[in-house]
Amino acid sequence: MRVITRLKHYLLTSWPVRKGTAETDPASAYDIWALSYDNQPDNLMLALDDELFSGFVNEIDLKEATVADVGCGTGRHWNEIIAKGPKDLFGFDISEGMLQVLQKKFPQAKTFLLHDNHLTGLANNTCDLVVSTLALAHIEDIRQALEEWCRVLKRGGVILITDYHPEALAKGAKRTFRHQDKLIAVRNHVHSIKTVRRLASNRISVTIPVFLAFLKCSQIFQLAVRLESVPNPIFV
Ligand SMILES: C[S@@+](CC[C@H](N)C(=O)[O-])C[C@H]1O[C@@H](n2cnc3c(N)ncnc32)[C@H](O)[C@@H]1O
Repeated sequence: MRVITRLKHYLLTSWPVRKGTAETDPASAYDIWALSYDNQPDNLMLALDDELFSGFVNEIDLKEATVADVGCGTGRHWNEIIAKGPKDLFGFDISEGMLQVLQKKFPQAKTFLLHDNHLTGLANNTCDLVVSTLALAHIEDIRQALEEWCRVLKRGGVILITDYHPEALAKGAKRTFRHQDKLIAVRNHVHSIKTVRRLASNRISVTIPVFLAFLKCSQIFQLAVRLESVPNPIFV
């Protein structure tokens, strides 16, 4: 119980500081964060996302599937995806630094540096799964991005998104990391869950299961507790 109180205290007291932090554009910020991104044992959001991702991905059959990971970063989930036997796995990201780290870990990886939201190289109706973890709110033109994800998605395909809760971002929550004693905040955009759901499903002529798991910063700990007791906790 004392841990819960301390964590809540931390979140409450750290927010005002973060509110005042200037924001860096995602490509530049992640080029810097790439150096330490895979070495964050205490990053609670990554730990929660791990739990969520495993829960979701275990429900999807990826044998011989084609998977696109948008905002793939360093390929944090790739071992788990690859273990499920997909035919193809493509990674897209705007940060050269993050992709370089991924490429070192997975030398055969098919990755693409994004300059906009277009998943160039992927034909229409070719993907069984479009996955995007902890990246959605960095995307400014969410309509264009989701149109593109839906374009490449096969009928019956799945879009799997995890990210910070938009309400938390709207209240001033930031995605931050430390580099050389400086706190760097990465620019986010607030996209409501309703908007994301509408954009994701309206582009598809058949109903697709759209799994949206948004993590609410202010309720991190409650969520962590729920994750322990509920195997598949959040379908918003
Ligand atoms: C918090 S990291 C998440 C990386 C990885 N998906 C994970 O879960 O560890 C966010 C990633 O999104 C990428 N990103 C930011 N804006 C993007 C955009 N507009 N399109 C694609 N990727 C973007 C960043 O470069 C970064 O690699």
